Amino acid sequence: MKFASDLEKKTFEKLIEQLPNLIEKKCQGYDEMYGYKLLPGEHYDEDIAHALVYKYCKAYKFQYDEAVSNLCSTLNWRREFDPLSAAFSERHDETLNNVGLLTRYEDEQPNRKVVTWNLYGELSKQKQVFADVNKFLRYRVGLMERSIGLLDFKDETNDYVAQVHDYDGVSMWRMDPDIKKCTKQVIAVFQKHYPEMLSAKFFINVPSLLTWVYDVVKRFVNEETKRKFVVLNDGTKLGQYLPAAPSKLYGGKSKQTLLEQNVLEVKPTPYALYLFEQKVGADVE
Ligand code: HEM
Repeated sequence: MKFASDLEKKTFEKLIEQLPNLIEKKCQGYDEMYGYKLLPGEHYDEDIAHALVYKYCKAYKFQYDEAVSNLCSTLNWRREFDPLSAAFSERHDETLNNVGLLTRYEDEQPNRKVVTWNLYGELSKQKQVFADVNKFLRYRVGLMERSIGLLDFKDETNDYVAQVHDYDGVSMWRMDPDIKKCTKQVIAVFQKHYPEMLSAKFFINVPSLLTWVYDVVKRFVNEETKRKFVVLNDGTKLGQYLPAAPSKLYGGKSKQTLLEQNVLEVKPTPYALYLFEQKVGADVE
């Protein structure tokens, strides 16, 4: 954790000190973030809890009040939305599962070791999957949580994810209202509840004729996030940014296909498992 000034360090320390009180008074005691416990007790890991709180301080430029209100808002959202269930318990539409992949590249450059791939081009003809915003959101949040499950918050070279949107095969003359709704909703949730989690986002195989979509969607995105975007018309150029990607289709060095690289198993953290057990116990009673 790096602090540019004493003031930043003090803000962080104040937030850590106030956390038990804030969680009790403003978050109904809910202390889980990305499967980790934020307050001391069983399943608590201080380094990880501090790294996560630090992300909130950094995202809100060490402004104490803003960091607090956004951290509490995320905890309350997590308590209600239950993203761990979206990641590890729920079954999602197979069409969606087939276009959301995860890869882990141990030797890739810092913070590009875990990559989420969204093959949205393939989905453009399967519009039915966008009809129910909540269903789509639960699928996309589930994938986000599982990608976070591959990170290591004690390792500053692997505590952010990179994302790829592959738009191969996409064609549209206007923005489909359902796709627009889902896109807006996912962007809003990611910006609010996953701060300091994205290292870079690559949009590949974007036909030149569709750069207008980029201009439309960019309007929903904050400046900080926009700076991480790279748009590539030619998907095989991705290998220049992500050498561990498959050589086939993506121009990387790996002989494996994307499907072969896909990480299917992500384990929930011990705290997530504990929370699942609690929930099952409560449902039975
Ligand atoms: C974000 C779907 C076409 C640029 C998103 C998101 C979805 C989505 C669901 C939410 C963020 C996420 O899932 O990570 C689609 C579909 C498309 C399409 C289904 C076509 C049928 C395009 C095209 C572009 C584009 C042609 C042009 C480059 C973007 C941008 C974001 C975005 C800039 C914001 C990313 C972020 O804030 O993380 N898209 N998209 N999209 N899309 Fe697309």
